[in-house]
Amino acid sequence: MNWRLKARIQRAFTWLPFFQESAYYLAQRTFGPKRSTVDPFFMLQGCAELVAYLQAAGRPVEGSRVMEVGTGRALDMPIGFFLCGAASVVTFDLHRYLRPAMVMESVRAMCGDRDRVLKTLSPVCPRNGLAERLESLCSALKCKEVMRRANIDYRAPADAAHTGLPDHSIDIQMSYTVFEHIPPNTLSAILVEANRILAGDGLALHHIDPSDHFSHDDPSILPINFLQFSDAEWDRIAANQWAYHNRLRATEFAAIYEECGHQIRLWKPHVDPRSKEAIENGFPLHPQFQKHSPDVLSTVVLQVLSKPSSLQSK
Ligand SMILES: C[S@@+](CC[C@H](N)C(=O)[O-])C[C@H]1O[C@@H](n2cnc3c(N)ncnc32)[C@H](O)[C@@H]1O
Repeated sequence: MNWRLKARIQRAFTWLPFFQESAYYLAQRTFGPKRSTVDPFFMLQGCAELVAYLQAAGRPVEGSRVMEVGTGRALDMPIGFFLCGAASVVTFDLHRYLRPAMVMESVRAMCGDRDRVLKTLSPVCPRNGLAERLESLCSALKCKEVMRRANIDYRAPADAAHTGLPDHSIDIQMSYTVFEHIPPNTLSAILVEANRILAGDGLALHHIDPSDHFSHDDPSILPINFLQFSDAEWDRIAANQWAYHNRLRATEFAAIYEECGHQIRLWKPHVDPRSKEAIENGFPLHPQFQKHSPDVLSTVVLQVLSKPSSLQSK
């Protein structure tokens, strides 16, 4: 879909007096490009990647207490962590976006192709326990039952910057495509909260998508498209609850991590070659972005594993 049209449609939904999110969700499921099916396998693949990073860093998921920032509408990531043996997952969202019907569609898709679930997760998760947990998940008929069996605690509306969780009660703080949607001050507060809630060998792992999200559905624009606009212009186009993007570049995320006292254990930027080439050939960047290198500007995925400050000596 043309990105400007999509931005206009999103803005139109914000004018509704009530039920903006429900109406937008319904419109997306009825007319949107991803309307027909829920596919949890992309998220399970993402989960496998995160689990592998944690394993390599000496923090296996099995038996761990996980905290997720930014649940969204489904529970694919918490379910993935459960399947990999997490003891519990507490997942926070500022908005109550969870769709029980979508959760169950996802669970049915996983249970309809158990072999694919096992193939996706078994390289990084203990295989025996995995099959048993999958069977347990598949016998759940309702979302509440899924959450009970998987020991998933959904908290919304709730701010991940102020969790109310006891000190040192979490082993892994994680998120998937969330940090780019959070204003810088709140981002700092979430990382500072990690300093407090993570246990002795705890780690924070965040998968960030600094690309222009309109490019996900509109192949006519590059993932750096939004870097041609000033903040004021971008606000006019996309300042709504679904499209807010902080447009922070990788080096700016690094500065926030440093300010919050996090020690980086893994820094994995993925550069989009087409965007880099466009920048090198004169893509019209807004002056506020011109200070960054082409590699930094065209980083479209950034995975960061960090150890909070209070834990660095341990
Ligand atoms: C793009 S969604 C990602 C959802 C999910 N992780 C996924 O990949 O499908 C970002 C989510 O982060 C939530 N969020 C934003 N700020 C937050 C905060 N301070 N605390 C908790 N959740 C927050 C939003 O409400 C939204 O549901």
